[in-house]
Amino acid sequence: DSIEKGGYEHFMLKEIFEQPRSILDSMRGRLELEAGHLNMGGIRAYERKFVNADRIIIVACGTSWHAGLVAEYLLEDLARIPVEVEYASEFRYRNPIITERDIVIAISQSGETADTLAAIELAKSKGATIFGICNVVGSSIARATDAGAYTHAGPEIGVASTKAFTAQVTVLTLLAMIVGHKRGTLSDTRLRELMVELSSIPAKVEKALLLNDEIELIAETFKDVPNFLYLGRGYNFPVALEGALKLKEISYIHAEGYPAAEMKHGPIALIDENMPVVVIATKDSSYEKVVSNIQEVKARKGRIIAVVTEGDTVIPAMAEFVIEVPLTSEVLVPLVSVVPLQLLSYHIAVLRGCNVDQPRNLAKSVTVE
Ligand code: G6P
Repeated sequence: DSIEKGGYEHFMLKEIFEQPRSILDSMRGRLELEAGHLNMGGIRAYERKFVNADRIIIVACGTSWHAGLVAEYLLEDLARIPVEVEYASEFRYRNPIITERDIVIAISQSGETADTLAAIELAKSKGATIFGICNVVGSSIARATDAGAYTHAGPEIGVASTKAFTAQVTVLTLLAMIVGHKRGTLSDTRLRELMVELSSIPAKVEKALLLNDEIELIAETFKDVPNFLYLGRGYNFPVALEGALKLKEISYIHAEGYPAAEMKHGPIALIDENMPVVVIATKDSSYEKVVSNIQEVKARKGRIIAVVTEGDTVIPAMAEFVIEVPLTSEVLVPLVSVVPLQLLSYHIAVLRGCNVDQPRNLAKSVTVE
């Protein structure tokens, strides 16, 4: 057991630390910086379908659904294709409108999630093209799809998904870049810039992992609180959801993720001096607005833990704790900003004495409805 954990105390921590490698493995053979090209074997036969798609529907559950939300931003931004992100369990029973011109992307680490598989079968029966993004080779979902791309994250043992999420986002980013370039919505120059930036992500994740000790100290401060709020906007909105899910899953602390601007429509009523609020406030197009949201939390004495871009001079004056991550392009930011949130939930759970790798009531793969 301890050999399998490679010297780490838990699989989850090992898997969090494997991310520079698993992200790189998910890009290997697909992003060739020197040659200046991108390729993804799985879409080759369906390239025209992607280029002409009227709409993409993404189906998934849990953390994979959060990767799907990131993909909605990516595909709409880079490829200008309208995207709908669906909980597989809702989609399958809703009598959804699906046509032969639709592409359905199913995202699943295990490739065995019953609801996702059923959603695929439904979409297939209506003639849609199904593209799978799975981590487990030869899994049921991988076999049920028309085409797909594997995430090469390696086996994920911890029930709370970490490296599979960043691998999914990596593959979805490559997909959006390829389709966007083919559709002419992503220029050669912008594509090149993103390729360079994506290549630097493993090193940036490595740098974010150096925050581990600092985050353990923050965890010490908050380990006994009953509630947490996570806020983010734009590309960091799905990251806020994922940060809250990680905390719930393994520490059993109630946590909610919210789009920062929606806070005023409800969650703001919960904020007082006992409420920790994790705000993901990296330097991007919504930065100024997120700073105003931080002010709103501060005015109500909420305890702010902010994830910011290195060198930020504004937020440190407002937050109780600041976690600095390396600067990256806005569209790639989830790959970096999610890392400290994974570590925060891990350390809080460990300090609370929870079974981090096998949390109560949860299963790694949910093969029943
Ligand atoms: C379970 C796991 C989650 C996972 C979800 C979807 O709830 O505990 O970590 O995100 O299923 O699983 P999948 O294998 O389809 O990605």
